[in-house]
Amino acid sequence: MSAGGRVLPPNDPRQYDDLADEWWRPDGVFAMLHWLARARAALVPPAPRPGALLVDLGCGAGLLAPHLTGKGYRHVGVDLTRSALAQAAEHGVTVVNADATAVPLADGCADVVAAGEVLEHVPDWRRAVAEACRLLRPGGLLVLDTLNDTVLCRLLAVEIGERLPTVPRGIHDPRLFVDHRQLIAECARHGVDLRVRGVRPGLRGTLRWLVRRARAAGRRGPQSTPAGPAPEIKPTWSTAVLYQGRGVRRG
Ligand SMILES: C[S@@+](CC[C@H](N)C(=O)[O-])C[C@H]1O[C@@H](n2cnc3c(N)ncnc32)[C@H](O)[C@@H]1O
Repeated sequence: MSAGGRVLPPNDPRQYDDLADEWWRPDGVFAMLHWLARARAALVPPAPRPGALLVDLGCGAGLLAPHLTGKGYRHVGVDLTRSALAQAAEHGVTVVNADATAVPLADGCADVVAAGEVLEHVPDWRRAVAEACRLLRPGGLLVLDTLNDTVLCRLLAVEIGERLPTVPRGIHDPRLFVDHRQLIAECARHGVDLRVRGVRPGLRGTLRWLVRRARAAGRRGPQSTPAGPAPEIKPTWSTAVLYQGRGVRRG
């Protein structure tokens, strides 16, 4: 299901077209992507040299861009969805309309590859990982976050999460979720030693955000932006639901 009211299969990329107006609404259905983008960008160091390239696989509308400001990268975003790429371009991203499993960029071109909340949408995530590793120069950095292939994740991210206003309903196909051990093994096969850690939205911050959002919607209509800070994404002991990965490409 998507914002246009038409019923689409789970994970159908056309959902992103129907939800195009939601990307940059901080209280919209992509709200949590903003929180995750900030946490992902925190894993990215300042550019090691002038002109360093960060390739953002599945960049969507470029939500990572504001969090990279001042770090010194050229930000290239790759995505299947043209309506999202148009918005990414408005935020300074150089866009490439392509599949993350076949990226038309040169081997070793990237100082950083980011893959935020995309692997769990790609039917062949192993090929996307191979592409991410191929794009990295030796010593380059892979940063990612994704959803784990566990019963708990299916429950929290889909059955519960997709009933909250922070996740579009039907956006996930849990059969595509990515087992963290398989991901580590696949990265290693392609020369990247990936370390993972579980992350989650801060509970208090999220509750406050939900309350502010509900109050603002009551007062001024659903388009209004709630005042106050966005919830933080925090490390947690378990990788069973949402996890981040960070790894360096061997030389
Ligand atoms: C959940 S959104 C995440 C967007 C962005 N990374 C962010 O965190 O804001 C998933 C994005 O992946 C894109 N996507 C899905 N499958 C893809 C594929 N095979 N190749 C490239 N992009 C893909 C979708 O179009 C969508 O923009």
